[in-house]
Amino acid sequence: MTRVVVCCGSGGVGKTTTSAALSVALARRGLRVAVLTIDPAKRLADSLGVGPLGNTPQQVPVDAPETGRLDAMMLDMKATWDGVVERFAPSPEEAARILKNRYYRFASTRLAGSHEYMAMERLYELYESGDYDVVLLDTPPSRHAVEFLRAPGRIAGLFDDSVMTWLSMPKNRRGFRALEKGSELIASVLKRLVGRGTIEEIAEFFDAMQGLWDALSERGHKVEELLASDACSFLLVTTPAPAASAEAHDFRVLLADSGMPLKGLLINRVQIRPEDASELDASLFPARPSSVSEDDWSAIVEGVRRARAHQFALAEAERPALDALAKEGVRTWEIPELARDVHDLTALTEVACYLEGLASEL
Ligand SMILES: Nc1ncnc2c1ncn2[C@@H]1O[C@H](COP(=O)(O)OP(=O)(O)OP(=O)(O)O)[C@@H](O)[C@H]1O
Ligand SMILES: [Mg+2]
Repeated sequence: MTRVVVCCGSGGVGKTTTSAALSVALARRGLRVAVLTIDPAKRLADSLGVGPLGNTPQQVPVDAPETGRLDAMMLDMKATWDGVVERFAPSPEEAARILKNRYYRFASTRLAGSHEYMAMERLYELYESGDYDVVLLDTPPSRHAVEFLRAPGRIAGLFDDSVMTWLSMPKNRRGFRALEKGSELIASVLKRLVGRGTIEEIAEFFDAMQGLWDALSERGHKVEELLASDACSFLLVTTPAPAASAEAHDFRVLLADSGMPLKGLLINRVQIRPEDASELDASLFPARPSSVSEDDWSAIVEGVRRARAHQFALAEAERPALDALAKEGVRTWEIPELARDVHDLTALTEVACYLEGLASEL
C-alpha cells in the first residue's frame, strides 16, 4: 500500500526542508519515495542537487540501498490543470476547447486555492500510480497551517451554484446568450466594459467547466477519503516560537474535526542544549598549539566558554514553548537549528538523521 505524508505548517517554518529531509531518510531505508514540493523560491531543487524541477519526477542522487530511490518534483500548476482537463473532459474536442479558452488560462493559474487544489490532485495521481511506497507532499506557504486544508473546499465553492447566483451569472451557455441579448443593466455594462466576444468566451468557459465539474468533485471526494484514511499521515511542522503551540492546537482540532490523522509535530530549528550549565573545565581543552600565542589561546578558550553559556541560555529560553507544545499530547520530533541554511544534499542528509525514527514508523 502506498503511504501518503503531508507536511503542513505556517510560512517559513521549514516545510520544504523537512519534507525533503524526511524523503531522504525514507529512501535511505530502501523505500521508493516521491516528494512533491511547492516551493516558489525553488530552494528545494538547489538543496537536492538537481536541476530545475518540474511536474515530472526527477531522480535525486541519494545514497540509498538498491531498492530505495527518491524522485522529486515541483508542482507545475498549469500543467496539472491541463492534465486534469485532458483526462476528465467529456471528449478530446471539449478538452481542446477548454484549453484554448483565455479565461481557463487565467483561472487555472490565478484562482485562490487553485495551488492547493492542484497539489492535492497531483498527490492523488502519484498515489494512484502505484510507483511509490511513500508519497510526501510539501505544502504552499500560508499564514496559517489550516488554510491549506480548507483550500479544496474553497475552490469547490467557486463553481458552486450559490456563487454564480450571487454574481447574477447564468449557469450555462444559453443563459449567457440570453444575457448577451438582454437589456439588463448588468449585461449592457458588461458588454460595454469587455465587449461581446469576451462575454461569449466567459460563457464558453463556464459552459465547458460544467462538463468537467462532476468529474472534479468526484475526484475531490476521493482525495478527501484518502486524506482521512489510514494510508495518510499529517505532520505539522513548527518551531519553538511562542505562537507555535496555539497553531498546533488549532491544527490538531481541525484535523480531528475532519477525521484526518495527525501523526505528530516536527519541531524544527530547536536550539541544541549543552548537557549542563556549568563552566567548561580547562582540562577539556586541548593543549595550546605552539603556533598560537598564550594571549590568543586564552581569548579562544574564553570565546568557547561564552558561546556555550550563550547556547545554554538560548535553549533555556525556548523551554516554555517546547513544554507548551508537549502539553498538546501529540508525538513530537525535534530537529536542531543547524549552523547554516539547508541548501545542499549533505545538509539535508544531516537533517534526515534526526528523522530516522519517524521514517521507521511510516
Ligand atoms: N533546521 C534548520 N537549520 C537551519 N536552517 C534551516 C533549518 N530548517 C530550515 N532552514 C532554513 O530556513 C529557510 C526556510 O525553510 P523552508 O524553505 O524549508 O521553509 P518553508 O516552511 O518551506 O517556507 P515557505 O512557507 O516559504 O514554503 C531555508 O533557508 C532553510 O534552509
Ligand atoms: Mg516551502
